[in-house]
Amino acid sequence: MTHGVGRKWQGKLAYIDLFSGPGRSIVRGSQEVVDGSPVLALNYEFARYIFVDIPEVLSCLKKRLAGHPKFSQIVFIEGDCNEVIEEVRFASPADHLMLAFIDPTGLQIRFRTIQRLVQNRSVDLLMTSSSEWVSGEI
Ligand SMILES: C[S@@+](CC[C@H](N)C(=O)[O-])C[C@H]1O[C@@H](n2cnc3c(N)ncnc32)[C@H](O)[C@@H]1O
Repeated sequence: MTHGVGRKWQGKLAYIDLFSGPGRSIVRGSQEVVDGSPVLALNYEFARYIFVDIPEVLSCLKKRLAGHPKFSQIVFIEGDCNEVIEEVRFASPADHLMLAFIDPTGLQIRFRTIQRLVQNRSVDLLMTSSSEWVSGEI
């Protein structure tokens, strides 16, 4: 994305990770340790990075990223993303193009939260999902 956008957004890109995780994961099966989405995102040129997770997890991420050259560009927001969505909006520059990554472990995010996230903003959404979350017909 950071290579593909036009001049309009040059220098005005922000990354939002609503379920950021601790910055490192272990792949089930192989036990391989891999960087998590917030760490990977920092390899790309965004002006601001907004990471949201519950306090215990976010404090791990904060420790992991202490000393990172882009630390001053990161906003850490603790809590249930549904409850802190107004803080997320406040931290998201309205004149930026945002990439919002939504990577829950289940059906935690409310549709209203997504509506609010994108309201009057330019946001590209990338969301993971699993058929295991839904039992029966929907
Ligand atoms: C699948 S993991 C995210 C993995 C991460 N994207 C990565 O690539 O390493 C889901 C994360 O969502 C967090 N989480 C669960 N419910 C949440 C909620 N309501 N609001 C914010 N974070 C939540 C969990 O603590 C967990 O760290």
